[in-house]
Amino acid sequence: MYPPARAGKPGRSPEEKQPPKKKLRARVGLAEKPQVVEIEVPEGELPVWDLDAKLKIVGKRVPPIEGPAKVMGQAKYTLDYTADDLPGLLYAKVLRSPYAHARVESIDASKAAALTGVKAVVLIDKGQGFNAPDALLDVVSDGPVSHPEDREVIFEGEEVAVVAAECEAIAEDALELIEVKYQRLPHVVDFEEARQPNAPLVRKGAHSNVVPGDPHVVGDIEKGFKEADVIVERTLRVPVLLHNSAEPHAAVAQWEGPKLTVWASTQGVNGFRDDLAKTFKMDKADVRVITQHMGGGFGSKFGMQNYGALAALMARRAGAPVKLAYDRHEENQAAGNRPNATMWIKLGAKKDGTLTALHCRAYGTAGVGRDASVTDIMTTVYKCANRKLEDSDVYTHVGYGMPMRAPGYPQGSFAIESAMDELARELKMDPLELRRKNFVDQPLLALDEMYRMGAAKIGWTRRGEMGPQSASPLKRGIGMGTAVWGNGAGPPAVSRVTITPDGGVESSMAVQDLGVGTRTLVAIVTAEELGVPVETVQVTIGDTRLELIAPDSGGSVTALSIAPAIRLAAAHARQELFKRVAPALEAKPEDLSSADGKIFIRSQPDKALSWREATGKLSAPVSGVGERLPNVAPYGDLPLWGVQFAEVEVDTETGLVRVVKIVAVHEAGRVINRATFEGQIHGGVMMGVGYALLERRTMDKPEGRVINPNLEDYKMIGPEELPEIEVLIVEPITPANNCGGKGIGEPCTVPTAAAIANAVAHALGVRIYELPLAPDRVLDALSAKKEA
Ligand code: MOS
Repeated sequence: MYPPARAGKPGRSPEEKQPPKKKLRARVGLAEKPQVVEIEVPEGELPVWDLDAKLKIVGKRVPPIEGPAKVMGQAKYTLDYTADDLPGLLYAKVLRSPYAHARVESIDASKAAALTGVKAVVLIDKGQGFNAPDALLDVVSDGPVSHPEDREVIFEGEEVAVVAAECEAIAEDALELIEVKYQRLPHVVDFEEARQPNAPLVRKGAHSNVVPGDPHVVGDIEKGFKEADVIVERTLRVPVLLHNSAEPHAAVAQWEGPKLTVWASTQGVNGFRDDLAKTFKMDKADVRVITQHMGGGFGSKFGMQNYGALAALMARRAGAPVKLAYDRHEENQAAGNRPNATMWIKLGAKKDGTLTALHCRAYGTAGVGRDASVTDIMTTVYKCANRKLEDSDVYTHVGYGMPMRAPGYPQGSFAIESAMDELARELKMDPLELRRKNFVDQPLLALDEMYRMGAAKIGWTRRGEMGPQSASPLKRGIGMGTAVWGNGAGPPAVSRVTITPDGGVESSMAVQDLGVGTRTLVAIVTAEELGVPVETVQVTIGDTRLELIAPDSGGSVTALSIAPAIRLAAAHARQELFKRVAPALEAKPEDLSSADGKIFIRSQPDKALSWREATGKLSAPVSGVGERLPNVAPYGDLPLWGVQFAEVEVDTETGLVRVVKIVAVHEAGRVINRATFEGQIHGGVMMGVGYALLERRTMDKPEGRVINPNLEDYKMIGPEELPEIEVLIVEPITPANNCGGKGIGEPCTVPTAAAIANAVAHALGVRIYELPLAPDRVLDALSAKKEA
């Protein structure tokens, strides 16, 4: 799961005295199936936005507030910064290894350094796949030009040297003037070959490229298979994917004396700032990271990484602001990827469909990096008493893998859902029925409702009429898969809301908007709590200088880590306002309430002041700070669920798969903004369709190069492949936090490819065990079936 445990970030230390608690009641779960729960929360906590909450804005469709600025081209992304913004801005370019494995025998950058317009040149002495930027100052060479010894590169695209120049063209020319003599060394880029005993070793000092992880074992797997009436055993494969965020990795760094400011395309201004401070041995207060608008990251933009480190380093060397932005080629060689996997899976079940054993052994490559594990989904998605899950990483001479939208889950989903369908076939059982037989026990679980709604919407009962028996060469099929993802939302998160005498409201937090609507969510929650229109709220985010800590945006945690803190901040600011205006209403502050742009006495709603009249009584702005309180156990740990159904049409003459429709049913507790919630699901489904049909990184094995590091040869989904996407929302309110919600960014991409693969298997009567479901694979499967 990502991001990793937030150790070391400011939060509550265990020794801190526990604040006094109070008991609250909340009516939660589904409106049709409400449950009253009693929860214990800190004294200062607000009542949960539960089923009885009368919400005016939350849950409606609010368009992104930065929409107009984006459409008008006024929204500034890191990529947009030029010398017009920062006079004297230099542009950095990276010289990258053309080889998958080589020793740098000599390097001479004197001609590059002498080129007019070049302001700094730095050589990287000992890389070895360096993406541990805190070691940066140890790996760069001292002088502007030196002759590093015994320097190896271990993937195509690894950083060798960096130049900063007055414009990009000069920087590129300078790269060509750097003379490097490489001695090529044996490489291995194929992960099956890398597992062989005689394969060239990727990591120095290792005895093998294979690194087994700790197995996850529950119950007794042998016993489980003995109890089974039916066993299926299959091997499935998925390719490496490339993130291809719209905006590449980019950073603009500026030093002012000992202080450093970096504008960055990052999923976490706080994590980026902390890394910079560590690398350059600075006080965090002297480092400022700003991310106003961002074109996505999908897991590839946590921490400072090489792009941030090198931008800051070059700016320091050159004594001028420096911009370093990767191009698409670099992005796809050396800035992360989703690991592939070969997954052997064995499932056992009783005649009635009850799972008795689940064994999965998987391996994949994250290139020179780690964590290709895929079996985590199998710990939660279905109930099974006996489980053994084994993951291994395989090192290859390729750019490092990175988390990518629900790391490991779409891979594992393809394995488990394919095996579940095969099991259903052996059991002569409806595949949906098999899922319903095996879902987990969990408080407030609404999965059965989701299965039912989704099945009705896709027309699951039409399945019988579909399949290979149709006379047409166009075969139809329907398949499904279950979505699950861990709920990681929680502290720390701190927010500040300020109300000004002119009626303005400012809501601030050092959180970043990856392009998903976080800014709008901040405005909605603030406006709802204060009872003012969304447009009243001015949102200030994306800047560590605010000193209002927020999580890095990963693991689907952002919305419900920050929303409860924002609510508290707004409530505290309102308290201050009530104190100041109570005399004017001849009331006590605690008897006042606010809604619909009015401040009124709760028991006499007619005695009211308009928002403007009330704030007009202020002699100075009033502020409130809100701190995210811990989740209410056990609700904060409960996973996020969903289910997706796919209908496909497969042309058996061309092998082309068309996804006709996806029905995506998801829950995230209380939905804050329906528009951006649906936007997440549309995006997640689109990525899943691309995974199912098109996307795969391809390597040139003899040369050790990425063949398709561009958007011509690496196929991503476009309008042509876009299915109809129907989003159904199930809203089981959780008492885990004061907003009643969870997250959505990742679960919505987990089962899409698996559901499509199951639909294709249904359409053809034969299964394809490898993604993408490309035409050649469809035709091969059909001819194999004919021969059988
Ligand atoms: Mo995500 S892969 O936690 O951005």
